[in-house]
Amino acid sequence: MSNAVIVGSQWGDEGKAKVIDYLTKRSDIIIRFQGGANAGHTVIAEGQKFVFHMVPSGIMYKDKICIIANGVVFDAEQFLKEIDELKTQGISIDNRLFISETAHLVLPYHKAQDNAAENLMGTGKIGTTGRGIGPAYADKAARNGIRVADLVDWDLFTKKFEANLEQKKRLIESVYQSELSLDKDAILNHYKSIRNRLLPFITDTGYYLFKESRKGKKLLFEGAQGTFLDIDHGTYPFVTSSSTVSGCAASGCGIGPSSIDYVIGIVKTYTTRVGNGPFPTELNDSIGKQLQDEGGEFGATTGRPRRCGWFDSVMIRKAVQVNGLNRFALTKLDVLNKLDEIKICTHYEIDGKKVDQFPSRISMLEKAVPVYESMEGWNCDISECKIFNDLPSKAHVYIKRIQELCYNVPVLIVSIGPDRNQTIEVNPL
Ligand code: GDP
Ligand code: IMO
Ligand code: MG
Repeated sequence: MSNAVIVGSQWGDEGKAKVIDYLTKRSDIIIRFQGGANAGHTVIAEGQKFVFHMVPSGIMYKDKICIIANGVVFDAEQFLKEIDELKTQGISIDNRLFISETAHLVLPYHKAQDNAAENLMGTGKIGTTGRGIGPAYADKAARNGIRVADLVDWDLFTKKFEANLEQKKRLIESVYQSELSLDKDAILNHYKSIRNRLLPFITDTGYYLFKESRKGKKLLFEGAQGTFLDIDHGTYPFVTSSSTVSGCAASGCGIGPSSIDYVIGIVKTYTTRVGNGPFPTELNDSIGKQLQDEGGEFGATTGRPRRCGWFDSVMIRKAVQVNGLNRFALTKLDVLNKLDEIKICTHYEIDGKKVDQFPSRISMLEKAVPVYESMEGWNCDISECKIFNDLPSKAHVYIKRIQELCYNVPVLIVSIGPDRNQTIEVNPL
């Protein structure tokens, strides 16, 4: 396989980590390029289950290199927790996990600010993961952030941290009308103590990737969140604070876009969303509940129930456009096993007019009425199927219709269960 970017095509939790883990065997280096510990990436392989928030999902393969690149906002606490857990499970990370020196740090005051901002917004809140993502990216853009490399020079780190903490205190007290009860000395002592554990991982990851890629090493870029949580292309303001689309992989890693051969969109065969914001095909009925139960649709980061609804082809058409998707990985098809009828949203009606294109304005999206096509369910267990032809013909029809409605993007993978083995490769790269 050549170099490939994996992106979520909906509102996150499409099963990106499962596909990344599966494709890792054909890759050499797996790179997280944006987002932070807001991600919850579940891998189930050989009887082991891991939920990664910081560490790339390729880490389960003991001979692969994993990179946390510059576009990520790095949560040191979460990172250390995950590497400790990996060690406990017998997975060595020595000399095969690296962190970019230019990634920005998520610090305790970012989490406090995230929560204070949400509290102030009340019912209008975004429903963030509370992991400090928005404030960390805002500081980066305001040129006020602290980068991973700043940990190397302890005096510089201390100076920046103290100045920022003071600013945040004022902001949180005056604007957010809340209190910032963080103990400066305790935090600094803590960071001083964990710093020595972090330093060996820090390097110029862009240069490393460039060199390795020129040697012919195969790169797998791991996106977090999903297209409709993208800061530009998503359902703004109900989005995350990074660019989640494929184009971000290059700048988020420090190598050029000519390194990317395939853009694989992970497409859940129905739709889910965690947090607030419009969701045209949402099902607030027993079918929505059934999808939630059968799909185990509870957030891997916050445990919140995921809102569920029918497959929305209007969204996926936009995902094809903004990411340049040239392969689909269709996931969680098995979750539809028990349905007699399955619906696909072909387009919307807004103010009585047919709309094929995903509206950019949230006020329009809120008025969108989904128009459905009905398909027969296959009503049997597909989770043991090994090849595409093992799937029932009604499942073939469903997949074909999804493709027809979404520019006939070729299907690379059909996922029929959470385990690595429950993966059907249709047209290997
Ligand atoms: P990600 O954030 O896109 O990596 O996805 P999450 O890990 O947050 O959520 C996907 C959930 O669905 C996890 O619990 C996976 O173990 C599970 N999963 C992934 N693929 C499949 C599948 O094909 N079928 C079923 N039933 N579960 C799946
Ligand atoms: P993965 O990588 C699903 C959502 C939050 C909220 C909005 C903003 O596992 O697919 P943030 O904390 O980023 O400021 O929250 O984005 N969100 C996700 N939803 N999967 C994710 O990641 C998400 N990361 C953030 O629920 O609506
Ligand atoms: Mg997730």
